[in-house]
Amino acid sequence: MAHYTLGIETSCDETSVAVLRDGREILSNIVYSQAHLHEKYGGVVPEVASRNHIKKLPFVVREALDQAGIAFSDLALVGATYGPGLVGPLLVGLSYAKAVAYALNKPFVGVNHLEGHIFAHYLENPDAPPPFVALIVSGGHTLLVEVRAYGEYEILGETRDDAAGEAFDKVGKLLGLGYPAGAALDKLARQGNPKALALPRPMLDSDSLEFSFAGLKTAVVYYLRDHPDAARADVAASFQEAVVDVLVEKTLRAARQRNIKRVIVVGGVAANSRLRERLLSQKNLQVFFPKMELCTDNAAMIAACAYFRHTQLGQRDPFDLAPQPGVNLTP
Ligand code: KG4
Ligand code: ZN
Repeated sequence: MAHYTLGIETSCDETSVAVLRDGREILSNIVYSQAHLHEKYGGVVPEVASRNHIKKLPFVVREALDQAGIAFSDLALVGATYGPGLVGPLLVGLSYAKAVAYALNKPFVGVNHLEGHIFAHYLENPDAPPPFVALIVSGGHTLLVEVRAYGEYEILGETRDDAAGEAFDKVGKLLGLGYPAGAALDKLARQGNPKALALPRPMLDSDSLEFSFAGLKTAVVYYLRDHPDAARADVAASFQEAVVDVLVEKTLRAARQRNIKRVIVVGGVAANSRLRERLLSQKNLQVFFPKMELCTDNAAMIAACAYFRHTQLGQRDPFDLAPQPGVNLTP
């Protein structure tokens, strides 16, 4: 008999619900984005996000079940993100997931959002298992991780301040690109000269695997102050090139240091066309980027992680599992 997993993701401003068959086949992966509600504030407003998750989640669940062609009673497992993320939004998805599991008398698994991103690769490339180095780059996080096996992680480096996606969003805002600005900046950069501005490559000289993007953003602020008529496409291209230079160099360094020949890139910034181009052209390295809809926040990756942890590691979480807004990938 087929095994159906329901996955729920509400850590930020996407309400997402997915159904998987036997842990790897995506029957539905509905993503309802609230970005339009937050755009005028230039960032996610937690209270607005929580309230909208409450309003939309039941409908998104209904749609996910309908598209998968199953009923609640067919579900064998329920997984939901418990952190990191915004506490209110997390609480909504987590409570809903627990209620479904409790009502059906089925196991419930809480999923770490960062581990979830790694499972986008699990879904898409079953033939390319760990060990690999994972670059997790999103609006909230920038991490390099050695994945020895699914479930076994060592953090090699993280950002000390802004996440890469956050830097894209802030610089994009300065360029009048709305929120979130990553995709629009990527597009604008294609018409610009990446060498037009001499921007810093933060932390590139040190041999650490840490990142820092706040100074780069500040450099753009000062440049625009001193050159109000600068071509926006040149600013976008130069900024993007600086971020990508650092991400690529540190990722290659991590793979070299750990003697690993396989790399995966996940999270929203993995959608960046220049990052893809630069990493995919590396010789002697097998590089994987999940397809776009699995890079950005989605519940299929959360369901896949829940399925793996339940079936392979025997995990089943208590119903008093609380949201953990600040949790990292490893303790
Ligand atoms: O993983 P994600 O959907 O949500 C978080 O967990 O944060 O990532 C969203 C981030 C945003 O900062 C967005 O601007 C960025 O990913 N992003 C991009 C691109 N598409 C999305 N950044 C650079 N280039 C892109 N093409
Ligand atoms: Zn994410």
